[in-house]
Amino acid sequence: MRDKKLIIANWKMHFNIHEASLFVHSFEAKIKQHRDVQVVIAPTMLAVPALSIQVDHRKIKLAAQNLYWRDSGPYTGEVSANQLRGLVDYALIGHSERRHIFGEPERDIRNKVQAAIRNGIKPVLCIGETASERSMGETQEVLHDQIASGLRNVTAEEMESIAIAYEPVWAIGTGNNASIHDVAEAIKFIRAQVKHLFGAKVAGDVSVLYGGSVSLDSAGSYLDCDGVDGLLVGGASLNLEEFAEICKKAHKTGSALAK
Ligand code: PGA
Repeated sequence: MRDKKLIIANWKMHFNIHEASLFVHSFEAKIKQHRDVQVVIAPTMLAVPALSIQVDHRKIKLAAQNLYWRDSGPYTGEVSANQLRGLVDYALIGHSERRHIFGEPERDIRNKVQAAIRNGIKPVLCIGETASERSMGETQEVLHDQIASGLRNVTAEEMESIAIAYEPVWAIGTGNNASIHDVAEAIKFIRAQVKHLFGAKVAGDVSVLYGGSVSLDSAGSYLDCDGVDGLLVGGASLNLEEFAEICKKAHKTGSALAK
């Protein structure tokens, strides 16, 4: 997956179907199709079916913000990977808001990774430490545990479809984005864990993204950072101009790397 920079818009619980559709309409006119950048939008689940028909799939892929790990059954209010099959290419799994607001346990997260893979959807496994874990020096321990648990039942072959997003919880939605040094260090550690579990080839190939208060101002330096293969963008992805500019930046860094 590392041949393309992955730029994912996480719209969270923003935009209704009409707003999402209008955004995509104007956004597509602003961005070009680039071989070195994959733009992904994770809209509200309600907009997924409509957008899956509307979007120019050469320019934009869709992601689910969440899914349930059983394929069907008595699970009121849930949407399964099986139901999302063919509508989305990616799914965010284990986002910190799911972990911390909704108390999503590790067991569900690894089952969701499995369910996505089983249904041909690429999981974007989100991991990251809280402010107090960082202040107690536990960042590496947390990342280690989340990787080991989230990827427990995954094979080296299946790792080809997985991306990992490093999103320190204290940086999400706070404007307090992580320093380049901290991101580089965390991503190096993440790759070392993947290497430990799956070997050097998989660790070298897996896409690792950064997320947490990414803005147009900071996007370029993360994309230039060694080992960062893309961005997971929340707040800034709700602004059409800003998100389009972030995608353009990714194209520039991507093509510079390819030279
Ligand atoms: P943020 O959100 O860019 O608004 O910090 C990122 C995310 O939650 O994925």
